Amino acid sequence: STSEPLKVMISGAPASGKGTQCELIVQKFGLVHISTGDLLRAEVAAGTEIGSKAKEFMNAGRLVPDEIVTDMVAARLAREDVKQRGWLLDGYPRSLGQAESLEKMQIRPDLYIVLDVPDEILIDRCVGRRLDPVEGKIYHLKFFPPETEEIKERLITRPDDTEDKVKSRLQIYKQNAEAVSSTYSSITNKIDGSHSKEVVFKEIETLLSQLQKGKVKIIKSG
Ligand code: AP5
Repeated sequence: STSEPLKVMISGAPASGKGTQCELIVQKFGLVHISTGDLLRAEVAAGTEIGSKAKEFMNAGRLVPDEIVTDMVAARLAREDVKQRGWLLDGYPRSLGQAESLEKMQIRPDLYIVLDVPDEILIDRCVGRRLDPVEGKIYHLKFFPPETEEIKERLITRPDDTEDKVKSRLQIYKQNAEAVSSTYSSITNKIDGSHSKEVVFKEIETLLSQLQKGKVKIIKSG
């Protein structure tokens, strides 16, 4: 049966598990994962103009100016794969201005997921996080250690994952969270993100499966 592709936003504090859940969502539902953090880190690594503008903000744990990020997201959303497979926006919008830009472009999700995790857990998750630059996978020294010695040796730490920068990122998140989520209050689903990643994913999977069924039905009867 043909169905409209899903459009999903995932939000939550730094290290609430957005990237980790997105890996699982993409595996199961095939959506195009658009993470502004990942896109910006790729620009920094490639030494582009956007990257050089974004770098100082990111390393200080502050938000990159809206217009830089919004242009980047709009360009990515306009690509053909997104029309075919649907999208999963991770880390965007995260200011009122960004949410308003999307509304103006008439870009709205079917579902707005908020991962809810207590502050104490977040700091631990950030400080122990490691990234595999080859596979793009997210690890944690304690919770998800690398499978092999080879992977372990190539893991990198994000410059903004020190305890003081995590605290500043968390504060900025809290300042913006309400303004952003009010835009999507009618389609919001808050999920307890403090459980294991499998348990958290089960809940997300149920939501997305229901949504997908609903979309098929609408097309069949329409
Ligand atoms: P971004 O990369 O989006 O960072 P963030 O929002 O702070 O989120 P994180 O990537 O830190 O965490 P996550 O929720 O993805 O958690 P993860 O799955 O890795 O943004 C970085 C910077 O870019 C910003 O500070 C800003 O400067 C800039 N930027 C990005 N978007 C922007 C925008 N829209 N506007 C302006 N500027 C923007 O998990 C974390 C750790 O916990 C991992 O080690 C993982 O293995 C572990 N873990 C995950 N789930 C579990 C679990 N259930 N149990 C135990 N451990 C777990």
